[in-house]
Amino acid sequence: MPHDIQPRLATARRSTNLSGTIRVPGDKSISHRALMFGGLAAGETRITGLLEGEDVLNTGKAMQAMGAKIEKIGAEWIIRGIGNGALLAPEAPLDFGNAGTGSRLTMGLVGVYDFESTFIGDASLSKRPMGRILDPLRRMGVQVKSSEGDRLPVTLHGPETASPITYRVPMASAQVKSAVLLAGLNAPGITTVIEPVMTRDHTEKMLAGFGADLSVETDRDGVRTIRLQGQGRLSGQIIDVPGDPSSTAFSLVAALIVPGSDITIRNVLMNPTRTGLILTLQEMGGDIEVLDRRLAGGEDVADLRVHSSALKGVTVPAERAPSMIDEYPVLAVAAAFAEGTTIMLGLEELRVKESDRLSAVAEGLALNGVDCTEGEASLTVCGRPDGKGLGNAAGGAVKTHLDHRIAMSFLVMGLASEHPVAVDDSTMIATSFPEFFDLMAGLGANMEVEGRIAQ
Ligand code: S3P
Repeated sequence: MPHDIQPRLATARRSTNLSGTIRVPGDKSISHRALMFGGLAAGETRITGLLEGEDVLNTGKAMQAMGAKIEKIGAEWIIRGIGNGALLAPEAPLDFGNAGTGSRLTMGLVGVYDFESTFIGDASLSKRPMGRILDPLRRMGVQVKSSEGDRLPVTLHGPETASPITYRVPMASAQVKSAVLLAGLNAPGITTVIEPVMTRDHTEKMLAGFGADLSVETDRDGVRTIRLQGQGRLSGQIIDVPGDPSSTAFSLVAALIVPGSDITIRNVLMNPTRTGLILTLQEMGGDIEVLDRRLAGGEDVADLRVHSSALKGVTVPAERAPSMIDEYPVLAVAAAFAEGTTIMLGLEELRVKESDRLSAVAEGLALNGVDCTEGEASLTVCGRPDGKGLGNAAGGAVKTHLDHRIAMSFLVMGLASEHPVAVDDSTMIATSFPEFFDLMAGLGANMEVEGRIAQ
């Protein structure tokens, strides 16, 4: 997000009968990787369905700054990559705005090169921990300069020849796994990443698609060992990016909690490392039909038909967290309208997202009349199925802390609450879902952005 943009309050009000068929924008994780790997691979990569959110566009700008040629012709993004091992030194700091994925994966990709690269971001990104990426990079020989204790701004300088390492990922993080693998692309020999808990596997799948020599072995306990042969050739690919399940989550929960709703969401990525929310909502009694399951570009996709439903509270086990890590804020909103109590466990990683999402959600729920308890790594929410008393009649706005998913989740809450729900800023929604207000308005949702009615 541009750093000088003025915050814009947004408010959502009780709505009924959401209806229609929508396509949500392309998956953010796959879009970042498509631009990065396309920019790196030799030859041409053509991408359709790319998410054109600010986060992803910043990754594209970073790849351009390191020599990739990127242009959009019609609906297609066409990239001429530079070739693995041939990135150019960026002349200016690489600005990743709000994006953890863009910055962390790019640190892995370029940090091992024998030149300087500097990484900067907005106020949210500058508070997030980067040690989780910098530690393995240091072991590969990278020098790190950071005056902020492993937070941005950070300057990296790789060694003459990077050392391939074996790295056991200490937390459930696809970004850490990916950063080490991408660093391994430019190290001679085999880089090995051990992943005790499986996280989204887009890096492994897409790198193999681009021609990397990579193998994955899973043992009896589910521990995955990923081996990558460095310095191989990558070649351009054709990629059609499926719809983002994390963006799908907002209209999905809205349709479940707004009475009389019946919506269809087309072309949703159904990779099992991303579908924890759908499973949880189905366990809560959500009427979600998964239609026309199919394979598209090596990924499972499907259409979802969703009817409003009487939800009931459940316990969401800690093991499920990696497959729905970005969906807890909107699940907490669904739980606020469920009969009984929902307990969410294993949420430690929520504390280091675009905001401390665990406390941002708990504070926002409390402001809007929801009975909830924030634990160290858990959240308990007691629901009010009719939404009576929920919302904030006095106009108090949820603090979003530059976090797009906090903003969108609480706007969804307002669609089924007795009183309106306001968020103190909505500009950062453009980082991941620029079409959010238009799509929601098209379904019949009553949302208003300061100075503009989104309906
Ligand atoms: C992502 C991984 C997750 C997720 C983020 C996207 C990725 O982060 O929260 O939105 O594309 O690899 P962590 O690796 O920090 O869990």
